[in-house]
Amino acid sequence: MNNKKRFMLVGAGFLGVILAAVVLQPFLIKPANTMKLAKLPAGEYDPAVWGRYYPLQYSSYRKNLEMAPSPAGFGGSEKVQKSEKEPEILMNFKGMPFSIDYTEDRGHPYAIEDLKESKRVTSATVGSCMTCKTANIIDVYEEKGWDYAKLPLAELYREMKHPVSCANCHNPATMKLKIANPAFKEAMQRKGVDIDKASREEMRSYVCGQCHAEYYFEPKSKKVVFPWDKGYLPGEMYAYYEEKPAGFEHDWIHPDSQAKMLKAQHPDFETWAGGVHGKSGVSCADCHMPFMRSKGQKYSSHQVTSPMKSAEESCGVCHTQGLDWLLERVRTEQNNVWQLQHTAGQAVARAHEAIARAAAVGNADKAGLEQARELVRKAQWFWDMVAAENSMGFHNPDQVMNTLGRSIDLAHRAAAAANKAAKTNL
Ligand code: HEC
Ligand code: HEC
Ligand code: HEC
Ligand code: HEC
Repeated sequence: MNNKKRFMLVGAGFLGVILAAVVLQPFLIKPANTMKLAKLPAGEYDPAVWGRYYPLQYSSYRKNLEMAPSPAGFGGSEKVQKSEKEPEILMNFKGMPFSIDYTEDRGHPYAIEDLKESKRVTSATVGSCMTCKTANIIDVYEEKGWDYAKLPLAELYREMKHPVSCANCHNPATMKLKIANPAFKEAMQRKGVDIDKASREEMRSYVCGQCHAEYYFEPKSKKVVFPWDKGYLPGEMYAYYEEKPAGFEHDWIHPDSQAKMLKAQHPDFETWAGGVHGKSGVSCADCHMPFMRSKGQKYSSHQVTSPMKSAEESCGVCHTQGLDWLLERVRTEQNNVWQLQHTAGQAVARAHEAIARAAAVGNADKAGLEQARELVRKAQWFWDMVAAENSMGFHNPDQVMNTLGRSIDLAHRAAAAANKAAKTNL
């Protein structure tokens, strides 16, 4: 054999080994899609039963019971009252339940327990509230349609046997991702999106968007509606509410300023959608449910919490900057957002006070006061679109900064309009 031939043989050998490795790799490390399907029956909502067939996913789901702060300094899954750090919450939500009880969110298995414990829930609370707390919503909706929304929540407690769990996101027979919340399907339909045709990548965010989104209850039916017809931006949702959909005008009237207020609810999906990650096709599950390995088996982590607790698996798959750099970026973004959120919240609280004092002065110009109320309503909406969002701005830092800047400006204009109406300088 001459040198040339020997060289070619060795080369071919190498190529052979590499090819074999490429071909065999998927068989050596079992990917998630080779798992055995259990074909669970419809109506099985107990995560422990699902867990018998999908033990890795179930044991990581159980980890949602662990409570720990976030390494970045905000968020985390400890149940703390938000008003401890942000006392302006007490003023801005005066006259409505969020001024009484407003805790940081924690893991999915706590959803029913926290609903029952919440001081926001009273005998007047309607059934709509169960929509995002339990897998049993599927049967209740199948049986009653939206009629369940009008029933007293207390009457529905016995139907709520399991909190947010497997069936909220999966078809039990095929394990394909599936939407359980009818409000999400309806909102997407109005936008011309057929979710039955959604890609796997889209579904990895849609399953979260069905609950982590802004909504309101239609006044008569109490049905849950997502205000997305004009778009996901805070200004677009505000414009939607300005048209008083189905007669919906406000969530409550502020007792001091008498402004007709809106309460924003966790717009995580909407905020993410316009951010760098959302626009680049990075799904909620990419960060919050990263792939893990156990004894050669690849699976999606079902511990859904701050991704900074698993930054290596959550961020490291795409980013090569190193974990310290990433944590520092998240901290910087969140600190910047926190400072402006706090400033905006305080400016809004002062605007409510200024309007109340201006109205107490006799002969204040009525139209001028109404204008001030309109401005504080909008200022608080923009503040709350950030304050009620769960990532302290991370999901879309530049949009969030813009939203807060507008809130601060509107709050100052509200106070100025009140002073002008009463010819005061409060
Ligand atoms: C690029 C990664 C990434 C994507 C994509 C992403 N998130 Fe997040 N999310 C984060 C980070 C980082 C935080 C802040 C965590 C912290 O403060 O420790 C966060 C925070 C949260 C929180 C609050 C967690 C806590 O600790 O209280 C929720 C809820 C949340 N995200 C939901 C979503 C939803 C729903 C989507 C999709 C619509 C989504 N996220 C998309 C990275 C991501
Ligand atoms: C909040 C939504 C959600 C809940 C609740 C949920 N899953 Fe999943 N699950 C997902 C997502 C997202 C994926 C990734 C699917 C994909 O990429 O196609 C997944 C994937 C899976 C897979 C496929 C293999 C893998 O690990 O990627 C199995 C099996 C699974 N989940 C079982 C369960 C079980 C069992 C429960 C209840 C204990 C559960 N899931 C609860 C969202 C959820
Ligand atoms: C059926 C409704 C529902 C679905 C679907 C859902 N969530 Fe949640 N999520 C909740 C509720 C309710 C809470 C708050 C529970 C509590 O505080 O008791 C929560 C809490 C969280 C938290 C806070 C956990 C912590 O440790 O602080 C994160 C993060 C989160 N969800 C992300 C997601 C992501 C990502 C998805 C999609 C893969 C998703 N959720 C799907 C309803 C849902
Ligand atoms: C699936 C891929 C993917 C994952 C997972 C991912 N990112 Fe990114 N990230 C991107 C892309 C794409 C960009 C856009 C800029 C670029 O191309 O580098 C980006 C941009 C960023 C930026 C700069 C823009 C901004 O919004 O500040 C930060 C910071 C960042 N990511 C942090 C994180 C953190 C923290 C995590 C984990 C919680 C994470 N990323 C997870 C793909 C990803």
